[in-house]
Amino acid sequence: MTLLELHDVTAGFGAVTVLHGITMSVAEGSIAGVFGLNGAGKSVTMKAIGGTVPARSGQVLFEGEDITRLSPEKRVARGMGHVPQGRQVFPQLTVEENLRLGAYTLRRKDKGRYGPALDSVFDRFPVLKQRRQQLAGTMSGGQQASLAVARALINQPRLILVDEPSAGLSPVAQLELREVLQVVKDSGVTMVLVEQNIAFGLSLVDTAHLLQTGVVVHTAPVSELDDDTLATHLGIGKVLAGATGSALSARKGSKR
Ligand SMILES: Nc1ncnc2c1ncn2[C@@H]1O[C@H](COP(=O)(O)OP(=O)(O)OP(=O)(O)O)[C@@H](O)[C@H]1O
Ligand SMILES: [Mg+2]
Repeated sequence: MTLLELHDVTAGFGAVTVLHGITMSVAEGSIAGVFGLNGAGKSVTMKAIGGTVPARSGQVLFEGEDITRLSPEKRVARGMGHVPQGRQVFPQLTVEENLRLGAYTLRRKDKGRYGPALDSVFDRFPVLKQRRQQLAGTMSGGQQASLAVARALINQPRLILVDEPSAGLSPVAQLELREVLQVVKDSGVTMVLVEQNIAFGLSLVDTAHLLQTGVVVHTAPVSELDDDTLATHLGIGKVLAGATGSALSARKGSKR
């Protein structure tokens, strides 16, 4: 089943159009990757899905329903979660306070669900449970990435929008993050994943959408991607494509 669809979505700021007609469809339970160079419109695409940058034309469908004109809050209430670029945890608040803010919608709907939701997040992220009273700003980048993912999951969303989660993380922290995202996927949550780190992204996604200046120029299941296609459609050189190539062959060799 298709959970999310964008039909010819345009968006921009003032006189500037950034998205020139984004079309993509995301199957329930899958991870859709969005790849492109700096400024290609990846984050704006995420914001058009989440509603913080409204589509000027075109349609956003969620569970088959047209949500193009819904506020961001209503989209969250319908089951969208966000892990924004830069993670945006509140550095002066504790881990638990960050999670509580993330659960705003859940608590408003039904206060009784917050406790169990917090417990289930703590079960999934023991490091956050251990550090529940620690100020978020004093945690490592990898721990903050986990917190940002956990904060999105606490509302028990059906879809999460994850924007460049690996940025600035050490190789070890990236491996841990990859595991976290894989577990999220295995739990049935659908994901749109934006990554500059294409090798990292390709190790997770089922389908890749390659973006250039506000247009999806190529869409393919990860099993049908190759170095040349990536280099052509992303405008990246062969050196970088070499790194993505090994990620691709790793994907082809195993299901995960
Ligand atoms: N609030 C804004 N006001 C004006 N222009 C904006 C705004 N946000 C984004 N843009 C412009 O929209 C274009 C796409 O931005 P976007 O943030 O989506 O890029 P991106 O693909 O996410 O890049 P990066 O990999 O650097 O995060 C850029 O030219 C950017 O300057
Ligand atoms: Mg961005």
